Amino acid sequence: MEKNYKRHLITAALPYANGAVHIGHLAGVYVPADIYARYLRMRGEDVRFICGSDEHGVPITIKAKQQGITPQEVVDKYHDIIKKSFDGLGISFDIYSRTSSKIHHKTAAEFFKKLHDEGKFIEKESEQFYDEEAGQFLADRYIVGTCPKCGAENAYGDQCEKCGSTLSPTELINPRSALSGNPPVMKSTKHWYLPLDKYEPWLKEWILDGHKEWKSNVYGQCKSWLDGGLQPRAVSRDLDWGVPVPVEGGEGKVLYVWFDAPIGYISNTIELMPDEWEKWWKSEDTKMVHFIGKDNIVFHCIVFPSMLKAYGDGYILPENVPANEFLNLEGNKISTSRNWAVWLHEYLEEFPGKEDVLRYVLCANAPETKDNDFTWKDFQTRNNSELVAIFGNFVNRAVVLTHKYFGGEVPATMSITPYDEEVLAEIPVIRKNIEDSLENFKFREALKEAMNLARLGNKYLADTEPWKVAKTDMERVATILNISLQICANLTIAFEPFMPHSTKKLSQILNMKTRNWEDFGSDSILVPGHKLNEATLLFDKIEDDAIAAQIAKLEATKTANEQLAESTKPAPAVTPQKEECTFDDFMKMDIRTATVLEAERVPKTDKLLKLTIDTGIDVRTIVSGIAEYYTPEVMIGKKICILANLAPRKIKGIESKGMILMAKEENGNMRIVTPEEPLSNGSMVG
Ligand code: 2FM
Ligand code: ZN
Repeated sequence: MEKNYKRHLITAALPYANGAVHIGHLAGVYVPADIYARYLRMRGEDVRFICGSDEHGVPITIKAKQQGITPQEVVDKYHDIIKKSFDGLGISFDIYSRTSSKIHHKTAAEFFKKLHDEGKFIEKESEQFYDEEAGQFLADRYIVGTCPKCGAENAYGDQCEKCGSTLSPTELINPRSALSGNPPVMKSTKHWYLPLDKYEPWLKEWILDGHKEWKSNVYGQCKSWLDGGLQPRAVSRDLDWGVPVPVEGGEGKVLYVWFDAPIGYISNTIELMPDEWEKWWKSEDTKMVHFIGKDNIVFHCIVFPSMLKAYGDGYILPENVPANEFLNLEGNKISTSRNWAVWLHEYLEEFPGKEDVLRYVLCANAPETKDNDFTWKDFQTRNNSELVAIFGNFVNRAVVLTHKYFGGEVPATMSITPYDEEVLAEIPVIRKNIEDSLENFKFREALKEAMNLARLGNKYLADTEPWKVAKTDMERVATILNISLQICANLTIAFEPFMPHSTKKLSQILNMKTRNWEDFGSDSILVPGHKLNEATLLFDKIEDDAIAAQIAKLEATKTANEQLAESTKPAPAVTPQKEECTFDDFMKMDIRTATVLEAERVPKTDKLLKLTIDTGIDVRTIVSGIAEYYTPEVMIGKKICILANLAPRKIKGIESKGMILMAKEENGNMRIVTPEEPLSNGSMVG
């Protein structure tokens, strides 16, 4: 490790408590953060891994309104679901708290007050959108309109979800209130602003000169913000859900959610270690790393550091902010509102005992440098062809053969061949590669290396074939199995950060009481004579029907979304009403029900059918332009309505007496008007 830090403070973005956690959150933030935390702990480092629910912000209040419950009820529900599901996946937070806690309100309010009292804010009256009907200012997502950047409808006042642009409410085209749907009015209100522009030179030096090693997506986004010039940013809102503004004039106002949320990292550390927290936040011996998704970069690299800088008092800054890109699902953007997601709490119920499979697949596919795609087929293949066929198969054969030939005791090595030496020499190389990758936040690469160790073991057994050698040379078999078991023992260490459930199971099989990163690479972790436990399968195959069920679930979501879109589509514009007619005009028309007796195409035309019709009055011929829409066969026997007293006309030499009533849809399609009841021919319509 570069500098010798005494402790590691790892934070993972606080998820909003207005929905459950899905695979996109996991792959982007929580799985890599957990791997990093577990790795450092394995190395004997002093680690605190901090997270919690982000329980403020407008989406939560909107959800509460929609569901007719209080915001507190919304966050209570989701906080519980999120916390339990993280636990189920083995995300090893040292604390998972929440920003509606007393301690957070107190910490955030004090933070704001100190900055306020020291004159670090600008106070500004400004005109903001106001919904007169709702009697409320329209912050952030309470205002919707057309995105000025990409033209998407329903962009929010703070962001367009379609193109990802950060917006301010006044930029929206045709703004309207999300509460009443009305166009808002402008009304004056006072807010506190953090003058980010003042911190710009310092930020440039700190990030652009000082942190060139940050991931290129993070560095690039910071550079573009800093090059574009920073503006003062409002840190309060006219809302009633959040941390109340704790200074004079703050009545009816709360802290902006992005002001209070990152302070949540501090409050949660205080909650975890009330007496020691300052050592973690205010000492240069602490290495702080923020794990976040790409949409959070500006807040963690620019806004929060400026807040900490403004506060002073020795607060440290993040050493790195390894933000990931986004994960898609089966080729489409994951969307909470469209339910296009794999929800963690559902996965844990539907795939019990397969927590590590999800961890494995999400890490192997992590969107580290670009957006990536999760597919159920790939999930199945990675499980069956990698975890089962390589890792599981190797471990199982090594343990089963040891039971078979040596009563379950680790045999001693006899003589080592050059091939054995070559294989053993690979292990410390793999260890070094894993370390380098993890320390540079390259989790996919690190996992691939760990898997190479399983591949190495699997190949070693396949090459040496101890089951054949057993017929002639048990000393050689002893050596082969000793080496194989040492590889297994190394696997329990290598995979611990990635798949903690499986390594626990494996170390139980191997009867290993302790595991130490420092032993990784050793060829003598298990001493001869050490007794193994019975072999059990580490991974099982995932069958096609389990995958088909998940795909069917997504298909059902897609259909439901399409139906919803269809039902909420505005009705097509209807042709305006014709000029008024008198009752007498109408009464002149003699409309009757009739039945088509015969139908045939009019030769040399595409559009005309010649119909013989029983009108109840007579049997007559009508030529009608419906051949584009109906075949003659379909028309025969149809009940129709006709204008019977239309003056006869000759069409293509045929006398047509009357006209069939048809309705024209907006798309130009013509349909005959058919009486629903079985009316006898000649019934008068009107
Ligand atoms: O994007 C989000 O889900 C935010 N709730 C992340 C907050 S991170 C931190 F600042 F609290
Ligand atoms: Zn847009």
